Amino acid sequence: MEKNLTATLGGKSITKLENFSAEEIRLVLDTAKEMKKIIQRDIKKVPTLRGKSIVNLFFEPSTRTRTSFELAGKYLSADVVSINTSSSSVVKGESLRDTLYTIEAMGVDAIVMRHKAEGAADFAAKVVKPVIINAGDGAHAHPSQALLDLFTIEQAKDQIDGLKIAIVGDILHSRVARSDIVGMLKLGAEIHIAGPKTLLPRFLDFDGVKIHERVEDAIENADVINVLRIQLERQQAGLFPSMREYARIFGINDERLKLAKDDVLILHPGPQNKGLEISTSVAYGNHSAIRDQVQNGVAIRMALLTLTLTGKKQNN
Ligand code: NCD
Repeated sequence: MEKNLTATLGGKSITKLENFSAEEIRLVLDTAKEMKKIIQRDIKKVPTLRGKSIVNLFFEPSTRTRTSFELAGKYLSADVVSINTSSSSVVKGESLRDTLYTIEAMGVDAIVMRHKAEGAADFAAKVVKPVIINAGDGAHAHPSQALLDLFTIEQAKDQIDGLKIAIVGDILHSRVARSDIVGMLKLGAEIHIAGPKTLLPRFLDFDGVKIHERVEDAIENADVINVLRIQLERQQAGLFPSMREYARIFGINDERLKLAKDDVLILHPGPQNKGLEISTSVAYGNHSAIRDQVQNGVAIRMALLTLTLTGKKQNN
Protein backbone atom coordinates (compact mmCIF):
# COMPACT_ATOMS: atom_id res chain seq x y z
CA MET A 1 0.00 0.00 0.00
CA GLU A 2 2.95 2.34 0.56
CA LYS A 3 3.63 4.75 -2.24
CA ASN A 4 7.32 5.06 -1.39
CA LEU A 5 9.86 3.24 0.69
CA THR A 6 10.86 5.98 3.08
CA ALA A 7 7.45 6.69 4.63
CA THR A 8 5.95 3.71 6.33
CA LEU A 9 3.80 3.45 9.41
CA GLY A 10 4.07 -0.32 9.84
CA GLY A 11 3.96 -1.25 13.53
CA LYS A 12 3.92 2.40 14.59
CA SER A 13 1.63 3.64 17.37
CA ILE A 14 -0.27 6.79 16.45
CA THR A 15 -0.30 8.93 19.57
CA LYS A 16 0.32 12.46 18.27
CA LEU A 17 1.15 14.24 15.01
CA GLU A 18 4.37 15.67 16.47
CA ASN A 19 5.75 12.19 15.70
CA PHE A 20 4.79 12.38 12.02
CA SER A 21 6.82 13.72 9.14
CA ALA A 22 5.01 15.62 6.39
CA GLU A 23 5.71 12.60 4.18
CA GLU A 24 3.98 10.25 6.62
CA ILE A 25 0.96 12.56 6.76
CA ARG A 26 0.90 12.51 2.94
CA LEU A 27 0.97 8.73 2.99
CA VAL A 28 -2.09 8.65 5.26
CA LEU A 29 -4.00 11.17 3.13
CA ASP A 30 -3.17 9.33 -0.11
CA THR A 31 -4.19 6.01 1.40
CA ALA A 32 -7.45 7.54 2.69
CA LYS A 33 -8.29 8.58 -0.86
CA GLU A 34 -8.24 4.92 -1.87
CA MET A 35 -10.19 3.93 1.23
CA LYS A 36 -12.90 6.47 0.48
CA LYS A 37 -13.63 4.63 -2.76
CA ILE A 38 -14.34 1.48 -0.77
CA ILE A 39 -16.77 3.29 1.54
CA GLN A 40 -18.66 4.61 -1.45
CA ARG A 41 -19.16 1.15 -2.91
CA ASP A 42 -22.30 -0.85 -2.50
CA ILE A 43 -20.37 -3.70 -0.87
CA LYS A 44 -18.05 -2.04 1.61
CA LYS A 45 -15.77 -4.89 2.52
CA VAL A 46 -12.18 -5.75 1.62
CA PRO A 47 -10.03 -8.54 3.08
CA THR A 48 -7.04 -6.33 4.01
CA LEU A 49 -7.16 -6.97 7.76
CA ARG A 50 -8.64 -10.48 7.81
CA GLY A 51 -7.23 -12.31 10.82
CA LYS A 52 -6.31 -9.11 12.66
CA SER A 53 -8.09 -8.05 15.83
CA ILE A 54 -8.74 -4.57 17.15
CA VAL A 55 -10.09 -3.44 20.52
CA ASN A 56 -11.70 -0.03 20.90
CA LEU A 57 -11.14 1.03 24.49
CA PHE A 58 -13.04 4.20 25.28
CA PHE A 59 -12.91 5.65 28.78
CA GLU A 60 -14.62 8.85 27.62
CA PRO A 61 -17.85 9.29 25.67
CA SER A 62 -17.76 9.24 21.88
CA THR A 63 -20.16 8.80 19.00
CA ARG A 64 -18.29 9.64 15.80
CA THR A 65 -14.80 8.51 16.66
CA ARG A 66 -15.73 5.17 18.19
CA THR A 67 -18.28 4.30 15.52
CA SER A 68 -15.95 5.24 12.70
CA PHE A 69 -13.02 3.23 14.08
CA GLU A 70 -15.40 0.31 14.53
CA LEU A 71 -16.76 0.56 10.98
CA ALA A 72 -13.27 1.14 9.59
CA GLY A 73 -12.04 -2.09 11.15
CA LYS A 74 -15.09 -3.99 9.96
CA TYR A 75 -14.90 -2.71 6.37
CA LEU A 76 -11.32 -4.03 6.37
CA SER A 77 -12.49 -7.45 7.69
CA ALA A 78 -10.73 -7.21 11.07
CA ASP A 79 -12.40 -8.59 14.19
CA VAL A 80 -13.39 -5.55 16.23
CA VAL A 81 -14.52 -5.42 19.83
CA SER A 82 -15.58 -2.17 21.49
CA ILE A 83 -15.25 -1.81 25.23
CA ASN A 84 -17.13 1.21 26.41
CA THR A 85 -16.27 2.40 29.84
CA SER A 86 -16.92 5.86 31.12
CA SER A 87 -15.34 4.77 34.37
CA SER A 88 -14.25 7.66 36.53
CA SER A 89 -11.55 5.60 38.26
CA VAL A 90 -7.88 6.35 38.18
CA VAL A 91 -6.14 7.70 35.28
CA LYS A 92 -2.81 6.02 34.99
CA GLY A 93 -1.10 3.43 37.03
CA GLU A 94 -2.36 0.03 37.88
CA SER A 95 -5.91 0.01 36.61
CA LEU A 96 -5.14 1.28 33.12
CA ARG A 97 -2.00 -0.83 32.97
CA ASP A 98 -3.93 -3.94 34.00
CA THR A 99 -6.67 -3.31 31.44
CA LEU A 100 -4.01 -2.97 28.76
CA TYR A 101 -2.20 -6.14 29.88
CA THR A 102 -5.50 -8.03 29.81
CA ILE A 103 -6.30 -6.92 26.28
CA GLU A 104 -2.75 -7.62 25.13
CA ALA A 105 -2.91 -11.12 26.59
CA MET A 106 -5.87 -11.85 24.36
CA GLY A 107 -3.61 -11.38 21.37
CA VAL A 108 -4.99 -8.23 19.82
CA ASP A 109 -3.10 -6.39 17.11
CA ALA A 110 -4.30 -2.85 17.80
CA ILE A 111 -5.90 -0.91 20.63
CA VAL A 112 -7.77 2.27 19.79
CA MET A 113 -7.94 4.24 22.99
CA ARG A 114 -9.69 7.33 24.33
CA HIS A 115 -8.85 8.44 27.84
CA LYS A 116 -9.27 11.57 29.91
CA ALA A 117 -5.60 11.67 30.95
CA GLU A 118 -3.12 13.51 28.79
CA GLY A 119 -0.35 11.12 27.83
CA ALA A 120 -2.49 7.99 28.33
CA ALA A 121 -1.87 6.79 24.77
CA ASP A 122 1.89 7.31 25.02
CA PHE A 123 1.80 5.42 28.30
CA ALA A 124 -0.08 2.55 26.64
CA ALA A 125 2.37 2.46 23.74
CA LYS A 126 5.18 2.03 26.26
CA VAL A 127 3.66 -0.75 28.32
CA VAL A 128 2.08 -3.06 25.71
CA LYS A 129 3.03 -4.38 22.29
CA PRO A 130 -0.10 -3.91 20.15
CA VAL A 131 -0.26 -0.81 17.98
CA ILE A 132 -1.91 1.99 19.99
CA ILE A 133 -4.05 4.53 18.18
CA ASN A 134 -4.91 7.57 20.23
CA ALA A 135 -8.57 8.48 19.84
CA GLY A 136 -8.16 11.46 22.18
CA ASP A 137 -6.24 11.84 25.46
CA GLY A 138 -7.56 14.65 27.66
CA ALA A 139 -6.84 18.03 26.11
CA HIS A 140 -3.61 16.74 24.57
CA ALA A 141 -3.99 15.12 21.15
CA HIS A 142 -6.51 13.67 18.70
CA PRO A 143 -4.42 12.70 15.69
CA SER A 144 -7.08 10.89 13.66
CA GLN A 145 -9.38 13.93 13.90
CA ALA A 146 -6.61 16.23 12.68
CA LEU A 147 -5.87 13.87 9.80
CA LEU A 148 -9.53 13.77 8.79
CA ASP A 149 -9.66 17.56 8.97
CA LEU A 150 -6.60 17.75 6.68
CA PHE A 151 -8.15 15.21 4.34
CA THR A 152 -11.44 17.13 4.20
CA ILE A 153 -9.63 20.38 3.44
CA GLU A 154 -7.51 18.77 0.75
CA GLN A 155 -10.52 17.16 -0.90
CA ALA A 156 -12.28 20.53 -1.07
CA LYS A 157 -9.32 22.79 -1.85
CA ASP A 158 -6.87 20.43 -3.61
CA GLN A 159 -4.00 21.52 -1.42
CA ILE A 160 -3.26 22.73 2.08
CA ASP A 161 -0.01 24.57 1.50
CA GLY A 162 -0.56 28.33 1.68
CA LEU A 163 -4.15 28.23 2.94
CA LYS A 164 -5.31 30.57 5.66
CA ILE A 165 -7.00 28.44 8.31
CA ALA A 166 -8.82 29.97 11.28
CA ILE A 167 -9.43 27.91 14.40
CA VAL A 168 -11.99 29.50 16.66
CA GLY A 169 -13.16 28.90 20.21
CA ASP A 170 -12.07 26.85 23.16
CA ILE A 171 -8.46 26.25 22.17
CA LEU A 172 -7.31 25.63 25.73
CA HIS A 173 -9.35 22.45 26.19
CA SER A 174 -9.19 21.25 22.61
CA ARG A 175 -7.09 18.26 21.68
CA VAL A 176 -8.45 18.75 18.17
CA ALA A 177 -6.95 22.26 17.97
CA ARG A 178 -3.57 21.06 19.17
CA SER A 179 -3.36 18.22 16.70
CA ASP A 180 -4.79 20.34 13.88
CA ILE A 181 -2.22 23.06 14.42
CA VAL A 182 0.66 20.59 14.35
CA GLY A 183 -0.60 18.80 11.21
CA MET A 184 -1.66 21.93 9.32
CA LEU A 185 1.68 23.62 9.92
CA LYS A 186 3.52 20.53 8.68
CA LEU A 187 1.58 20.79 5.43
CA GLY A 188 2.27 24.51 5.02
CA ALA A 189 -0.94 26.23 6.15
CA GLU A 190 -1.03 29.57 7.96
CA ILE A 191 -2.99 29.33 11.22
CA HIS A 192 -5.03 32.06 12.88
CA ILE A 193 -6.66 31.35 16.20
CA ALA A 194 -9.21 33.31 18.18
CA GLY A 195 -11.20 32.78 21.34
CA PRO A 196 -11.81 34.26 24.77
CA LYS A 197 -8.48 35.24 26.33
CA THR A 198 -8.93 32.75 29.13
CA LEU A 199 -9.24 29.93 26.59
CA LEU A 200 -6.14 30.78 24.57
CA PRO A 201 -3.17 28.85 25.90
CA ARG A 202 0.22 30.50 26.18
CA PHE A 203 2.10 27.56 24.66
CA LEU A 204 0.84 28.42 21.18
CA ASP A 205 3.83 30.46 20.22
CA PHE A 206 4.65 28.26 17.23
CA ASP A 207 5.97 29.91 14.11
CA GLY A 208 3.08 30.13 11.68
CA VAL A 209 0.36 30.59 14.34
CA LYS A 210 -1.15 34.00 14.90
CA ILE A 211 -3.33 34.62 17.94
CA HIS A 212 -6.19 37.11 17.68
CA GLU A 213 -8.44 38.55 20.34
CA ARG A 214 -11.20 39.38 17.87
CA VAL A 215 -12.68 36.53 15.92
CA GLU A 216 -13.27 38.92 13.02
CA ASP A 217 -9.51 39.35 12.58
CA ALA A 218 -8.89 35.61 12.59
CA ILE A 219 -11.53 34.76 9.98
CA GLU A 220 -10.95 37.68 7.65
CA ASN A 221 -10.10 36.22 4.22
CA ALA A 222 -9.89 32.72 5.65
CA ASP A 223 -10.04 29.69 3.32
CA VAL A 224 -11.15 27.45 6.15
CA ILE A 225 -12.74 28.06 9.56
CA ASN A 226 -12.60 25.24 12.07
CA VAL A 227 -15.19 25.95 14.75
CA LEU A 228 -14.48 24.19 18.02
CA ARG A 229 -16.97 22.90 20.50
CA ILE A 230 -17.06 24.75 23.79
CA GLN A 231 -16.01 21.94 26.10
CA LEU A 232 -18.44 22.65 28.90
CA GLU A 233 -17.37 19.47 30.70
CA ARG A 234 -13.73 20.59 30.90
CA GLN A 235 -14.39 24.19 31.94
CA GLN A 236 -13.26 25.53 35.26
CA ALA A 237 -15.22 28.29 36.91
CA GLY A 238 -14.43 31.75 35.68
CA LEU A 239 -12.94 30.89 32.28
CA PHE A 240 -16.01 31.53 30.28
CA PRO A 241 -18.43 34.41 29.75
CA SER A 242 -22.13 33.56 29.64
CA MET A 243 -23.31 31.44 26.73
CA ARG A 244 -25.15 34.37 25.25
CA GLU A 245 -22.04 36.56 25.47
CA TYR A 246 -19.95 33.86 23.85
CA ALA A 247 -22.34 33.46 20.93
CA ARG A 248 -22.46 37.20 20.47
CA ILE A 249 -18.71 37.79 20.53
CA PHE A 250 -17.29 34.60 19.02
CA GLY A 251 -20.15 32.63 17.46
CA ILE A 252 -19.75 31.83 13.75
CA ASN A 253 -22.91 33.05 12.04
CA ASP A 254 -23.90 34.22 8.54
CA GLU A 255 -22.93 37.79 9.26
CA ARG A 256 -19.39 36.91 10.31
CA LEU A 257 -18.99 34.43 7.47
CA LYS A 258 -19.03 37.33 5.01
CA LEU A 259 -15.58 38.33 6.28
CA ALA A 260 -14.02 35.10 5.05
CA LYS A 261 -13.31 34.10 1.43
CA ASP A 262 -16.36 33.51 -0.74
CA ASP A 263 -15.61 29.80 -0.91
CA VAL A 264 -14.70 29.39 2.77
CA LEU A 265 -15.00 25.87 4.13
CA ILE A 266 -16.57 25.37 7.56
CA LEU A 267 -15.39 22.50 9.75
CA HIS A 268 -16.56 21.38 13.17
CA PRO A 269 -15.38 18.17 14.86
CA GLY A 270 -18.75 17.61 16.51
CA PRO A 271 -20.68 17.34 18.67
CA GLN A 272 -21.93 20.87 18.01
CA ASN A 273 -23.51 23.31 20.45
CA LYS A 274 -25.76 25.00 17.91
CA GLY A 275 -26.50 28.62 18.62
CA LEU A 276 -23.39 28.81 20.80
CA GLU A 277 -20.18 28.38 18.79
CA ILE A 278 -21.97 27.92 15.46
CA SER A 279 -25.34 29.04 14.13
CA THR A 280 -27.76 26.52 12.67
CA SER A 281 -27.68 28.19 9.28
CA VAL A 282 -23.89 28.03 9.05
CA ALA A 283 -23.81 24.42 10.25
CA TYR A 284 -26.30 23.32 7.58
CA GLY A 285 -25.31 25.91 4.96
CA ASN A 286 -23.45 25.64 1.64
CA HIS A 287 -20.02 26.15 3.13
CA SER A 288 -20.34 23.42 5.71
CA ALA A 289 -18.19 20.30 5.30
CA ILE A 290 -19.24 18.91 8.67
CA ARG A 291 -20.90 15.81 7.28
CA ASP A 292 -18.02 15.23 4.83
CA GLN A 293 -15.74 15.21 7.83
CA VAL A 294 -17.69 12.28 9.24
CA GLN A 295 -17.39 10.21 6.07
CA ASN A 296 -13.76 11.17 5.67
CA GLY A 297 -13.19 10.08 9.25
CA VAL A 298 -13.99 6.49 8.33
CA ALA A 299 -11.59 6.65 5.36
CA ILE A 300 -8.78 8.11 7.51
CA ARG A 301 -9.27 5.45 10.19
CA MET A 302 -9.22 2.72 7.54
CA ALA A 303 -5.97 4.20 6.26
CA LEU A 304 -4.42 4.32 9.74
CA LEU A 305 -5.40 0.74 10.56
CA THR A 306 -4.15 -0.54 7.20
CA LEU A 307 -0.85 1.30 7.31
CA THR A 308 -0.01 0.41 10.91
CA LEU A 309 -1.14 -3.20 10.75
CA THR A 310 0.07 -4.19 7.29
CA GLY A 311 2.79 -1.64 6.49
CA LYS A 312 6.42 -2.53 6.23
CA LYS A 313 8.11 -1.98 9.60
CA GLN A 314 10.79 0.66 9.89
CA ASN A 315 14.28 -0.55 10.72
CA ASN A 316 15.66 1.39 13.62
C1 NCD B 1 -13.84 15.88 19.60
C2 NCD B 1 -13.21 15.23 20.80
O1 NCD B 1 -13.76 14.32 21.41
O2 NCD B 1 -12.12 15.65 21.12
N1 NCD B 1 -14.90 15.18 19.07
C3 NCD B 1 -14.65 14.21 18.19
O3 NCD B 1 -13.77 13.39 18.37
N2 NCD B 1 -15.39 14.20 17.09
C4 NCD B 1 -14.17 17.28 19.83
C5 NCD B 1 -15.07 17.61 20.96
O4 NCD B 1 -15.51 16.77 21.72
O5 NCD B 1 -15.34 18.80 21.08
